[in-house]
Amino acid sequence: MEFKNWKLQRDADGVVWAILDRAGASANTLAREVLHELEGILDEMDREPPKGLIFRSGKAAGFIAGADIEEFTQCDTPEKARALVKLGWDVYNRLAAVKYPTLALVRGHCMGGGLELALACRFRIAVDEPGTRMALPEVMLGIVPGWGGMLRLPDTVGPAAALDMMLTGKGIDAKRAKKMGLVDECVPPRVMENAARMLVCSGRARIGLSSFQRLLNGPLKCMVASQARKQVAKRARQEHYPAPYAILDMWEKYDGNALAVPDDKPTSLYAISTSPTTRNLVRVFFLQDRLKGFGKDSDFDPKHVHVIGAGVMGGDIAAWCAQRGMTVTLQDQSVERIAPAIKRAADAYAKKFRHDEKAVRFALDRLIPDPQGNGVAHADVIIEAIFENLEAKQALFRDIEARARPDALIATNTSSLRLADIAATFREPARLVGIHFFNPVAKMPLVEVVQAEATHPEIARKAAAFVRGVDKLPLPVKDAPGFLVNAVLAPYMLEAMRCVDEGISPETVDEAALAFGMPMGPIELADTVGLDVAMAAGKGLAAGVTEPPKKLAELVAGGNLGRKTGRGFYAYPQGRAAKSAAGAVPAGLARRLVAPLLAATRGLVDKGIVADADLADAGVIFGTGFAPFTGGPMNYQREHSAA
Ligand code: NAI
Repeated sequence: MEFKNWKLQRDADGVVWAILDRAGASANTLAREVLHELEGILDEMDREPPKGLIFRSGKAAGFIAGADIEEFTQCDTPEKARALVKLGWDVYNRLAAVKYPTLALVRGHCMGGGLELALACRFRIAVDEPGTRMALPEVMLGIVPGWGGMLRLPDTVGPAAALDMMLTGKGIDAKRAKKMGLVDECVPPRVMENAARMLVCSGRARIGLSSFQRLLNGPLKCMVASQARKQVAKRARQEHYPAPYAILDMWEKYDGNALAVPDDKPTSLYAISTSPTTRNLVRVFFLQDRLKGFGKDSDFDPKHVHVIGAGVMGGDIAAWCAQRGMTVTLQDQSVERIAPAIKRAADAYAKKFRHDEKAVRFALDRLIPDPQGNGVAHADVIIEAIFENLEAKQALFRDIEARARPDALIATNTSSLRLADIAATFREPARLVGIHFFNPVAKMPLVEVVQAEATHPEIARKAAAFVRGVDKLPLPVKDAPGFLVNAVLAPYMLEAMRCVDEGISPETVDEAALAFGMPMGPIELADTVGLDVAMAAGKGLAAGVTEPPKKLAELVAGGNLGRKTGRGFYAYPQGRAAKSAAGAVPAGLARRLVAPLLAATRGLVDKGIVADADLADAGVIFGTGFAPFTGGPMNYQREHSAA
């Protein structure tokens, strides 16, 4: 029998290789058609049972990326969603029950439905390569691993590790997968076929859980679940994010069978598939994809970055670029000013690469202190991150422009100066672009790519390509005060501080925002950004405001600038905000707080600072953490004005 998406090859020794090579696509995804063909393969194997059946990918890019999200978005009724879950659940159950041995040979990414297929096999081998990653990321889209993941992952690695994977969506590399029992073997690429053939023919039984893990995955499920529920509650409220709670319930009470939960339960497939959260998280996924597309139209492939200013931002930008594989020269006024940045980088690499001393050493080798600024003449990208002073920046750029290679990208990380002003002293103002990273660099996924009127569009494209090259999300914006992200945050934080002036406690204000779904309250955010910065931003960005909030002015006058000085709206005894209990949140407070943010976003879209409403949503979500389940501020306004 011929299949469109699979190739079957029968070895001389009777082992069948089922090679997934989805037609017309560069990566394998599990469309309905692929699953139906898998049923056909199982029919064929029933007719002539193989000695073993091995699944592998026919693509250079990974094993299986997961379900086909486009198809998934077409499930616009609960019935269609249910039918899709049932299709995968049934076919994987059938695969798990076959008598002959089965094996998944996993090389590259193995996500969602791909990992569920691997889990339905008797054996799994992971190929030890940096690209090999296994995950059940459904929760990030607001859905559940309904094709057997919730049944088989806990049964393979034990419930604690399984829930950790399913509730966070995090990925596991090949070595870790072997260590935790997710795969039977972890092998180098050159021996993978042989290893697969030997294991599938070995006659070995599936390795089961230890008796203790069986208890946790059986009679003691409720204990594990209640523990996990507490952890989830710290990160996500059920009214905003129903999926993690559904995963816990389905595992604990329904043996991982999503189809078994009655529709009227809040953790049912019905509830999830009709929740706006799911729709909005899928929207956010596509928005992220759109950001990833910027810079694709440029073949700029920078290898050497020169960063000037080794302070909070420059130091961390340099460390990040070196961690992502670039050679980085880091310039400041003296070696002593560069040293703390190198120390911070060393600590970050040690944490990131854990026991891999080689990776730490290589990353540090790529980060080169350069007090003389010799790197300027050689670099592909030059990023200025000295303190926020126009004259100082202009003087510095005069020298840079004279010494840089003609094809080098010249960028500033300024937050509040106009690019046009900085470029005023350039011989070729078209060369200057803004590459605006956020603080903390390692954590914030977004980078604004600022195009001034004079900036050449090709330069902006190159800047976006560089941002993708260091694995961040580029957002093209125009040269306007605060660009997008700071321009929407400033009026939001000011409104919050005005509430404090009116006598509402900072804790209560922050609680209102957290309940709305913000990752951090606006008062704590202001303390974190620095109250001097908040004050300066407020002056520049909140149109028509003359007086700063009273309490803010008092704190700044007293030298209490927030977290960095140990005191702001809150005290920071051990670097963490010491908060009292929040009071009852007055009705309408959350709406009052976010209203200025929503209005500012709308205004910036109208003015064309960001190209359209979707990009504004993407920018505000990835730049501020704005409640992703809302789908972004513009989407939120649309949904709530329609309601
Ligand atoms: P910072 O004060 O921590 O560091 C500035 C560094 O530049 C200092 O180490 C200083 O010695 C060095 N420097 C000053 N003049 C220099 C020169 N002529 N040559 C070489 N080095 C020189 O400043 P921070 O906070 O890192 O800010 C840097 C830039 O990044 C500013 O433009 C700021 O607006 C922007 N930014 C800051 C963010 C933040 O949260 N701190 C966030 C995003 C952007």
